[in-house]
Amino acid sequence: MPPRAAPGGRNAPPAADVVERRKAEHLRVVATGDVAGRTGPGWSDIHLVHHALPVTDLPAVDLSTVFLGHRLRAPLVVAAMTGGHDSAGKVNAILAGAAERHGVAMGLGSQRAALHNPRLARTYAVARESAPSAFLIANIGAAQLVPQDSGPPLTPDQVSEAVAMIRADALAIHFNFLEEIVQPEGDRRATGLREAIAGVVASIGVPAIAKETGAGLSRQAAQELRRLGVRALDVGGLGGTSFAAVETIRAQARGDIRGAALGTVYRDWGIPTAVSVVAARAAGLPIIATGGIRTGLDAAKAIALGASLVGIARPLLVAALKGPAAVEAWIGQFLEELRAAVFLTGGKRVDDLRSVPRAIVGDTRRWVDALEG
Ligand SMILES: Cc1cc2nc3c(=O)[nH]c(=O)nc-3n(C[C@H](O)[C@H](O)[C@H](O)COP(=O)(O)O)c2cc1C
Repeated sequence: MPPRAAPGGRNAPPAADVVERRKAEHLRVVATGDVAGRTGPGWSDIHLVHHALPVTDLPAVDLSTVFLGHRLRAPLVVAAMTGGHDSAGKVNAILAGAAERHGVAMGLGSQRAALHNPRLARTYAVARESAPSAFLIANIGAAQLVPQDSGPPLTPDQVSEAVAMIRADALAIHFNFLEEIVQPEGDRRATGLREAIAGVVASIGVPAIAKETGAGLSRQAAQELRRLGVRALDVGGLGGTSFAAVETIRAQARGDIRGAALGTVYRDWGIPTAVSVVAARAAGLPIIATGGIRTGLDAAKAIALGASLVGIARPLLVAALKGPAAVEAWIGQFLEELRAAVFLTGGKRVDDLRSVPRAIVGDTRRWVDALEG
């Protein structure tokens, strides 16, 4: 079936206010609801081996690292979350201010809303104002790169506009087909996806990052994405915020039996983050481990498995809704925990974690062995 022409002209989704309302609901549901995956991300199956003889002073541990040619003061990305409505602008300003102060990266939420309604561009652009020198990542959905029932795909000019809106250092193309299936208004078409991704990657002028949003990247997907030209992978694995759970709560609230049932059945669909980091390594690209990173020790384990950076969403959203001081406290605690892991494994730099001895046990071991077998 050919896609329906979208009402409202220039590639507009069905109604901009629907997208705006959905984004506001996401913030509320994620902040207050039971939205964690029931299956964990796997960090409890990863053990870093203690080294009784540290090699430097704890305060001298260097957390800085280089990602896509940029030096970050710590291997952290404030993961893509929001934009597109008023309270999102406030959250973005707070999180971007923290990213700037700590010299870490930040991803913005999907910018589709602002591409269709320029009034909303401010709720994203505010991040660049608050973080003039931080590594900022623009965001569009892979599903919006191909024709959908809701309208035609984003044009190359619109994708460039998303990058320019925040003077982005990179563009994340997010994959959220699980969420799109559960949403009644979801974009479920994928014909032409690979060609569209290759086209965007070749024309965008900044590095592209392929980003899953809770179901993980397999080895095959990672290798295919590399061939399509993406320069880094955000594995977005299972075990953190579950968008199937988020959409189940929204579906229940409006009496949508189909969506609620699908979301419940698929709540734990996907590849746990720890497994996905190991699987995605085969592509040989820098990896961001997002999905259920809750402590600096989780981050250390992800880096020991092969990640270059970790991404954190929900805990920073909850903190940002309380205010800048709560974000500051959360990141301060996280960095101290990460520094301790480097020190206790006998390292001087966070990059030393990549070669520390570690053991993989339990379900994560079984997953990894099954996939490699
Ligand atoms: C409220 C909210 C909105 C999100 N919106 C987006 C989005 O627009 N684009 C995207 O790539 N990821 C989005 N994500 C996914 C996060 O970037 C991240 O992959 C996911 O929440 C897992 O991380 P966590 O377990 O630390 O929450 C969103 C997450 C949250 C919590």
